[in-house]
Amino acid sequence: MKNILIAPSVLAADFANLQRDIEMINNSEADWFHIDIMDGVFVPNISFGMPVLEAITKHAKKTIDVHLMIVDPDRYIKTFAALGANILQVHYEACTHLHRTLQAIKAEGMKAGVVLNPHTNVDLLEDIITDIDLVCIMSVNPGFGGQSFIENTYSKIEKLKALINKKNAKTIIEVDGGVTNKNAAQLVRAGADVLVAGNFVFKAENPSQTISDLKAITCI
Ligand code: DX5
Ligand code: ZN
Repeated sequence: MKNILIAPSVLAADFANLQRDIEMINNSEADWFHIDIMDGVFVPNISFGMPVLEAITKHAKKTIDVHLMIVDPDRYIKTFAALGANILQVHYEACTHLHRTLQAIKAEGMKAGVVLNPHTNVDLLEDIITDIDLVCIMSVNPGFGGQSFIENTYSKIEKLKALINKKNAKTIIEVDGGVTNKNAAQLVRAGADVLVAGNFVFKAENPSQTISDLKAITCI
């Protein structure tokens, strides 16, 4: 049985009670903290930046998975390493020299992730897949939490999984956006290894129980 990782997205937390929500994740069955950094240029929204991430990492006791939705992410690789990121994800669409960017992330001791927007074909990763630790398939258009899941995601995951196997790569697959108890099992069957969930967790009556439920659903 595969251990599917659950990564609650802190974007959906209550920022006025951030420490409480971080402790909830620490004490839950969640595996990672998913941190969304938006610059208002690459995506039409601004989330939060370095001081907030610093406050989060001070309390967080699990892997810090940082999803950069920013242009020219190379400028901030060292900064995010210093802030405690364990995984640094950049968008395929934001990187002109993706190979160089991935090497720079790894040189700082982090795992390197590449995120694909819904329109970006997974075949574009054919010549770089063995250099990528994690591919994140966006199942919504990045920029906002609480959007509805794009159904084409399942076939993208299947195609990516086939590419990973063909190239004998060790890459793991994350899915981000609109994940709920309705699509979690099918995402795992398609080949997902990590599920990000924002609103489904934090807007639930019992977020910690919701994390446990997601973990249980994915034990298939
Ligand atoms: C969207 C972010 C997601 C978002 C997920 O741009 O990358 O991580 O927070 O939130 P939900 O699960 O609410 O779609
Ligand atoms: Zn994200």
